[in-house]
Amino acid sequence: MKRITIAIDGFSSTGKSTIAKQLATALNYVYVDTGAMYRAVTLYALLENFVSEEALDKRALIGALDTIDLNFELNPNSGKSEIRLNGKNVETEIRTMAVSKWVSPVATVKEVREKLVAMQQQMGVEKGIVMDGRDIGTVVFPDAELKIFMTASADARANRRYKELLDKGEQVTFDEVLKNVQERDHIDSTREVSPLRKADDAIVFDNSDMGLKEQFERIHNYALRIMVA
Ligand code: DC
Repeated sequence: MKRITIAIDGFSSTGKSTIAKQLATALNYVYVDTGAMYRAVTLYALLENFVSEEALDKRALIGALDTIDLNFELNPNSGKSEIRLNGKNVETEIRTMAVSKWVSPVATVKEVREKLVAMQQQMGVEKGIVMDGRDIGTVVFPDAELKIFMTASADARANRRYKELLDKGEQVTFDEVLKNVQERDHIDSTREVSPLRKADDAIVFDNSDMGLKEQFERIHNYALRIMVA
């Protein structure tokens, strides 16, 4: 069977990573969560105080980019690959509301995107990869054999995210989460550099009312059909 590249893009909290992970496991492919990379850079900016009350110091962040080292390591207990920022596992720290609040502004910085896109392309040179994000089918791997564009209503997405955060013990209201989802949609799709948009040859996948099993089966079938062609 042919080894292919699978790009999964879409709005935040559409369940991209859940499906991408399942797919990678089933196909024995590498899974890369590019959102985690933008989140880790954001965490770095917060830790270095490049973020003040209401603004991000882009110049300081750009100046420090060379000192940011990112890599993924496999957690043998969960079987998941987790992100490391300058050698430290930050998988938990990157999922807080503070990081969610600042990640979209960080992801608008051209120099940040150039650095992360180059790393992502390097990870995919041998194919056999499932990568999820916002610009994978349009910028990172425009030649990917399978491109999925995931979408769901803002309410359905905020609901999923709200439950996840409550499970983790974060004190948030549904309205705060909905507002964050809507703000990120807006920034992600209107930014100048690589805005979130569907690649012309991507398959649109609205999962507002679709369970995980059905989503996985459908996308797995798309992949198998291309791999045996
Ligand atoms: O997938 P996520 O919600 O963890 O992503 C966090 C943010 O990172 C999201 O608001 C937009 C940005 N992002 C991006 O601009 N490009 C990517 N390829 C992945 C994420």
